[in-house]
Amino acid sequence: MRIGVLASGRGSNLQAIIDAIEKRTLDAILAVVISNKAEAPALERARSHGTPAVFLDPKTTADREAYDRVILEQLRRYDVELVALAGYMKIVTSVLIEAYANRIMNIHPSLLPAFPGLAAQKQALDWGVKVSGCTVHFVTEGIDAGPIIRQAALPILEEDTEETLAARILVEEHRIYPQALQLFAEKRLTVEGRKVRIRENKSPHGASLLASDS
Ligand code: GRF
Repeated sequence: MRIGVLASGRGSNLQAIIDAIEKRTLDAILAVVISNKAEAPALERARSHGTPAVFLDPKTTADREAYDRVILEQLRRYDVELVALAGYMKIVTSVLIEAYANRIMNIHPSLLPAFPGLAAQKQALDWGVKVSGCTVHFVTEGIDAGPIIRQAALPILEEDTEETLAARILVEEHRIYPQALQLFAEKRLTVEGRKVRIRENKSPHGASLLASDS
């Protein structure tokens, strides 16, 4: 499976994907990493893995749709089959969503549908919830609203700050994002309306590459 990653920042989820590919727990090729930020550390992480790293300047296009058409061109150029958003801070338009229907994933640092949008960890703390976590979902129109593939939950501690909570959630993000991608690579995901069905791995040729199916 050829993955294209869109990232705007530090790229720790991208790194988790790269590490999983290198450890062979994710059976995929990182075909290209694209960023809307020239200085995104994610681009450097891609280069270190030997993956083409492409900066596309949003200022050179008239609007979001035109920008997404430029991205689409690059994704096709690198034969990308699945797009993974990893800290990508731009809204994806119908141009990409229709071209890659049910083939764009995102990771979000809350238990969706709670706390979509920016600063999800702060939203959770401000609300006073006792459990939070992260969600991998397919991208549809609507912010963080697509069908859910995988979630991990963790307790919020009395002494948690936005930073400590974000750090603990991140550990779970790095675990479940490569797992969700591997499920896709194994063709075990089917989208039925809002629901993502996960087929059991019945391959007679040994276990799934997933470290754990829990
Ligand atoms: C992560 O918390 C992710 O859930 C959110 O943006 C952050 C990106 O971090 N969508 P990184 O760039 O992957 O380190």
